[in-house]
Parts: sequence; C-alpha cells; structure tokens
Amino acid sequence: MRDQSRTPFFDAVQSYIGKHRAGLHMPGHMSGQGIHPRLKEFWGENVFLSDLTEVEGLDYLHRPIGVVKEAQELAAEAYGAIESFFLVNGSTVGNQAMILSTCDPNNRVIVQRNSHRSMYGALILNELRPIYLEAEEDRLLQFQTFPSKKTFARVLRDHPEAKTVFVTNPNYFGISSDIDYYVQKAHATGRRILVDEAHGSHFHFHQDLPKSAVDAGADMVVQSTHKTLAGLTQTSMLHLGSRRVDKELVRATLTMLESSSPSYILMTALDVARMQMATNGHDLLQRAIDLAEDARRRINNLEGLFAPGRERAHTEAVYDVDLTKLTVHVSRLGLTGFQVEDILNRDYNVEIELSDLENILAFITIGTPREAVEILIKALEDISRKRHGKTSTIAPPPPIPNIPEMVLFPFEAYYAKRERVRMEDSVGRIIAELVTPYPPGIPITVPGEVMTHECVDYMVFMRDHGADLQGIIDKTARYVQVVKER
Ligand SMILES: Cc1ncc(COP(=O)(O)O)c(C=O)c1O
Repeated sequence: MRDQSRTPFFDAVQSYIGKHRAGLHMPGHMSGQGIHPRLKEFWGENVFLSDLTEVEGLDYLHRPIGVVKEAQELAAEAYGAIESFFLVNGSTVGNQAMILSTCDPNNRVIVQRNSHRSMYGALILNELRPIYLEAEEDRLLQFQTFPSKKTFARVLRDHPEAKTVFVTNPNYFGISSDIDYYVQKAHATGRRILVDEAHGSHFHFHQDLPKSAVDAGADMVVQSTHKTLAGLTQTSMLHLGSRRVDKELVRATLTMLESSSPSYILMTALDVARMQMATNGHDLLQRAIDLAEDARRRINNLEGLFAPGRERAHTEAVYDVDLTKLTVHVSRLGLTGFQVEDILNRDYNVEIELSDLENILAFITIGTPREAVEILIKALEDISRKRHGKTSTIAPPPPIPNIPEMVLFPFEAYYAKRERVRMEDSVGRIIAELVTPYPPGIPITVPGEVMTHECVDYMVFMRDHGADLQGIIDKTARYVQVVKER
C-alpha cells in the first residue's frame, strides 16, 4: 500500500513554481505575466503560476513516465483499479475512449438506451451498430432507471455477435442497478462490460453508498470526479478493472481524442481530490450523507413534498440509492419541477442541480455547506405553505415513448443528406438528430429512427413545460432535421 497522503503531481507543480525559472514557452500568458490585471486580481496569482505545461519535471499526460504516472498509480490503488487514467475532458471523452478502444468499426454493441449523448457520439464516430437495453421506469418519480435483469439477460442471449456491453450506472438521480449482476452476466457470456459511472466517483469510499462498478469487476469504468467529488469541472477518471482490455490502445485512443495540451490545473485537482478521498473520504461522505438524510426527514414532514430515500431500494426499478442525491418529488404541490426550480431561483436565491417535470434534484456533496441545505429547506417550507389547498393546472405528462424503429444505423443517418421539417410533420420520417430533453438528458430519438406520434407528443410537451430539447439544431425546437427523401 502506497502512502495515499502523497500528492506527487501537485508537489511537482509547487516545486517547479518555486524555481522561478526564466520561462520562454507556452502558455502565452507566461505564469500570469501577460494576463490582464482585472482577471489576475480576481483569480489571484497562483492559478496562473499553476497553469503549466510539459516543462522539466512535470511529465506529460499522454506519455506519463514521472509524476503523472505516479499520481495515476495512486489513483488506481485508491479505487482498486488495475490502471487509472486522468481525463481533462470529462466523462464525455472517457465514454468515447472506452467504446472506441474496444469496438471495431461496424461492430454490433449492446448499449443502454438511456445513456448520455457522449455514448451516442462514440456510436457515430466508430460507425457502430447498436442493440439497445431498454431501461425500467420509476413510476413514482417518472424517470428511467436501468435495464431489468430479465431485459439484460434476454438481449445478451439474443445477440451473441455483440461482444461489448455498455451500461450507465447510477442514473443522474443516484438510482443504481445491481451492477454485480450485469458484470457477472457479461463476463459469463464472454463479453466486456464498460460502465459510465459519471455520477459514482464517490461510491468506493463509503459502505452506505451503492457499489462501484470498479469494485464489481467491470472491465472499464468512467467517473466524473467533478460531479460528486472535489475535482474541477472537466476532471474525470477512467479506470481499468480487468486485463480483457488493451491498455495501450486505451491510452492511444485518449491521446487521439483529448487535447495535446492537457490542463495542469485540472490534473493537479485530480491528484488532490484522490488524496482527499483516500485519506479522509469516509468521514467527508458520512457528513454529506447525514446532511442529506436530515434534509429528507424534514422535507417529508412538509405538505405536498416527498423526498424518497433508501426505503425504496430493491424494487423493480430501484436497486440501490445514492443517499447524497436529494431528490424531491414536487408534483403534489400542483407545480412542475421546472416551476419549483424557477421559484427557488427567483424568490429564494437557491440554485439546485436540476429539475424535471415531477422532481427537483439537489446535490449534497462533501463540499455542501449546512447553511445552503437550511436555506433550501426553509424555501421548500415556504413554498409548501403557500401552495396548500391550491389545485394543479398541469396536464399529466405523456408516457415516456417506446424506442422507435431503427431503419438506419445512427452513423448512416447522421452523415445522410438532411432537410428541416416542422416537428409535427416529422412523423414517419427518419430522424437525423439525437433529440434529448434536458433534464434529464436521455435521448428520445436517435439518428436513424422513424419518428412516431408519441415521440412528437412527448417532445412538444417537454418543450412547452420548460425542458431544453438538446440536440435539435433549430433554436426554437419547432423544427427537426430528418433524412432527405430521394
Ligand atoms: C450519465 C452521464 N454520463 C456522462 C456525462 C458526461 O460527463 P462530463 O460532463 O464529465 O463530460 C454526464 C454528464 O452530465 C452524465 O450525466
């Protein structure tokens, strides 16, 4: 066991700065000397001094032989991985690297349908032929969670030609599946399993959190250190959990996809975030869990609000629950989650992580101050009191549409000639856009699928109730791109 209190990369950065070298290299601001004084005054000197590049003694992310290598080895040990890669372009690049380094162009690949758009980007980039794992729906909270064991087993049985499986676990709200089952089933049938664990970088460090896919033995796992730990935005890690993947190919793929000038500020943040969790993670997470549990108890005493916790675990659509995610079901107030988010913003100066039609979601992390949680609870008390006795004017949302028929593979439709039609006129046409209402960021149509009435109804409803229909080029989200008919 190495000394996890060490921070080799951060130490090297500090030591380099201490040398006060005459610098004649990138970045052009030259340790802050070229930065405009207004920004320097606001950000402080050390940010610019730390914004280094592959200078003497600081190693290089794409060919690590020194302090980057050491920092990544410490991370691998802290997470129980065979090897860990620091990522400076988020889990987006991690998902793409996992898929591109394991699938050859044109391969069939089994992927969870309700995955992040970065997974779809990889399908297009590598011209892959997806087979979808459809997720269960949490009927209470009205969002999708994960594929049932039955679905998982059936899809694997029916598609022996697909040698790679990609799943997303947990979902944005921290609802997690039985990851052990997926991993064992994939391996028992001779497949590799890749896991988008963007929302689970903290799981490994506390026994009351869902099981991490790294601990379950998945072949590759991607985590956004910036989402649930104290990494800076864009910091993530890719962990290798088995020798079924070619680590040199993973490295080469990352070199192809990521900047050749990786940010040393981001890498420093990763080195320190790992040290923080390895040395004190359990206690920091215990505090976050306690804060969230206390908030749930108090919110559940309020009229019209419901904050579900672990009591719902081990049901069909909820296997386990990340207790640090504070989901509040608000529809019994007669308001949508979007409206409650707006009220919190406007009247109470509270910024939450996201809202959807039925829920709001607050992240309680190792950094969340107790005062922020108190302000949220007070605001919810107030909103609940004001809404008491008021009736809802919100039409019930249409059901989440079934997966439309795929007549072209995503890459075929993506690269096809397109034309723009009114959303309502697109029924029966082959869609060329990945339409993803955000939140929660789950695609409703994927390029190559035939648009249905139910998809259009759902998108129009979501658009008109405040969701941002991401992936649609048209800014008003009234027109969509379809494959041009010959
Ligand atoms: C499930 C999931 N995977 C991947 C990503 C992409 O992560 P990043 O923002 O770190 O690139 C996100 C972002 O929200 C996500 O929710």
